[in-house]
Amino acid sequence: MRLRGRKGIRENLEAQPELVVLEPEQYKGRWAELFGNDHPIYVELGMGKGRFISGTSVRNPQANFIGIDMYDELVRRASEKARAAWAEQGHDTPPSLMLARANVEKLEDIFAPGELERIYLNFSDPWPKKKHARRRLTHPRFLDMYKRVLNANGQIHFKTDSETLFEFSLNSFADSGLQMTNISLNLHRDGINEEHVMTEYEHKFMGKGMNIHRCEVVIGEKALERYEEVRMEPYRISSDERAAMAAEEAENETPVVEEEKSEV
Ligand SMILES: C[S@@+](CC[C@H](N)C(=O)[O-])C[C@H]1O[C@@H](n2cnc3c(N)ncnc32)[C@H](O)[C@@H]1O
Repeated sequence: MRLRGRKGIRENLEAQPELVVLEPEQYKGRWAELFGNDHPIYVELGMGKGRFISGTSVRNPQANFIGIDMYDELVRRASEKARAAWAEQGHDTPPSLMLARANVEKLEDIFAPGELERIYLNFSDPWPKKKHARRRLTHPRFLDMYKRVLNANGQIHFKTDSETLFEFSLNSFADSGLQMTNISLNLHRDGINEEHVMTEYEHKFMGKGMNIHRCEVVIGEKALERYEEVRMEPYRISSDERAAMAAEEAENETPVVEEEKSEV
């Protein structure tokens, strides 16, 4: 029987407690227990129809995933997508993915300090009017919450098509004293890697030829230590490149001697 209307959607969600959590506050500090292991927990805030969290969970069995959205209907659609993605792997119920109906405002009622390892913010609502800036999920008031629920390896991975949200977010990260890395103004400039899982919005905007902006924010102290070890690698100059540079300089320094005109 096809369930219709608000009541039908709620009944649908209530009928799948092995995948959908309607009162996530009850698991605060106990998510590892719910998953039955202590794998790191990665959360997408505002998952929409769940394409990204479903695909990413299938590709990364070493982590646990939680997709969060505030609308029942989106959680229902995400549940269909999650089941379909995991069915291809032979699982009736996704073993490492839960979907929660919740508002990000309540994040600290849902997760204990240090309970998460990664937060994905994918195409968060841009809230373009200045008077709504505090609703943007990269506003410093949200970043303060993220810092508290993330663990020592904690990071935020952020993608958006919105230039104004990206600009606001980079400033917000910097003003909150956070370390950014892997900043890209055009994530798909060199084509799409097969392993890359697109979100619904990413797919739509890519189709319109729009640039996708992305950056990572390094938060936990261990993540920062690892980042320190590699941060200058993209700028390292190899010995071959150094030799080529020296040869180029030497060539530029060789004086050009005009040939003497031979007198006839
Ligand atoms: C623009 S959509 C992006 C959906 C998806 N991440 C994607 O990239 O396709 C933003 C989503 O965030 C959800 N959202 C916005 N604010 C939220 C909040 N405070 N708490 C939970 N979900 C929120 C919306 O319901 C919507 O599904």
